[in-house]
Amino acid sequence: MKLIHNPGSSADIYHTESCNTKSAKLNRASYEMNYERSAAPLGSEKAEAVIEGAPRDVRIKLDVTAVSADMPVETAITNRRSQKDFSRDALPMPHLAKVLYLANGARPSSPDASSNADASSSYGSGSNFNFPSAGGLASTQIDVFVLNVAGVGPGIYRFDRRTHDLVLKKKGNFSTWLKEFGILQIEFGDAGAVLILSCDMARLAEKYSIRAYRLGLMDAGHVSENIYLAAHALDLCVCATAGFIDSEINSALGFDGLDQCALLALGIGLANEA
Ligand SMILES: Cc1cc2nc3c(=O)[nH]c(=O)nc-3n(C[C@H](O)[C@H](O)[C@H](O)COP(=O)(O)O)c2cc1C
Repeated sequence: MKLIHNPGSSADIYHTESCNTKSAKLNRASYEMNYERSAAPLGSEKAEAVIEGAPRDVRIKLDVTAVSADMPVETAITNRRSQKDFSRDALPMPHLAKVLYLANGARPSSPDASSNADASSSYGSGSNFNFPSAGGLASTQIDVFVLNVAGVGPGIYRFDRRTHDLVLKKKGNFSTWLKEFGILQIEFGDAGAVLILSCDMARLAEKYSIRAYRLGLMDAGHVSENIYLAAHALDLCVCATAGFIDSEINSALGFDGLDQCALLALGIGLANEA
């Protein structure tokens, strides 16, 4: 594990100590205390993620203009809510594309966006992204568990915020794996997609040292609210959860859990009308 910021720093210790461990899935009492409604089906069977390989060059171009999310901002803010009663109907790809773009995308119209969107910037250097971030470093990355999205094969993808592509990391249907191992609340396994917000803590720490940890958390919070508002404007069901098993999610995404660490999960999908 590469640690470029003070090994054993209080931020690292806090992060590690506040992780949910695998035992949270096994300890029924602690689980029910927080998530009673969904506790019953737990632990019934073993589920393995079906991983069919990890071709590195598969990119899916997302059309971020096919649908618009033009609800007035006041309506979106005052009507958004957390919902996790996901429909079994597939999430349309243009809707996923729009949410990712609005939450975490570089702006194509910006003169610098194509060449400079990931470059470190200083304060006041301009707005290349649809989200604010400490120092313009864009520390928040979104990885997507595609579970049930029309036109996109199930698997784990990274959202390339500069090109707006989904870049395949692992093929396979992770729905059952998320229910059994990854996330404490099983409803999230029925979402069209689960978005994992992670932080490039190492990059933030290069500039901010120990203060990076608090900045990384705040950066992710801003992206999360963008997801909520965009999803609501598109009439989607959305819910955040910090109730995931850090080590499982980090290892599924190929993160070391410190320099790059998962911070928040959000399920999105069509709302169940029934
Ligand atoms: C950081 C964060 C963590 C959350 N974690 C969970 C969670 O573990 N489980 C859950 O069902 N909802 C979770 N939520 C959603 C909150 O429960 C929800 O926002 C809150 O109850 C208010 O409801 P509203 O969003 O509909 O206004 C989380 C929200 C945030 C911002």
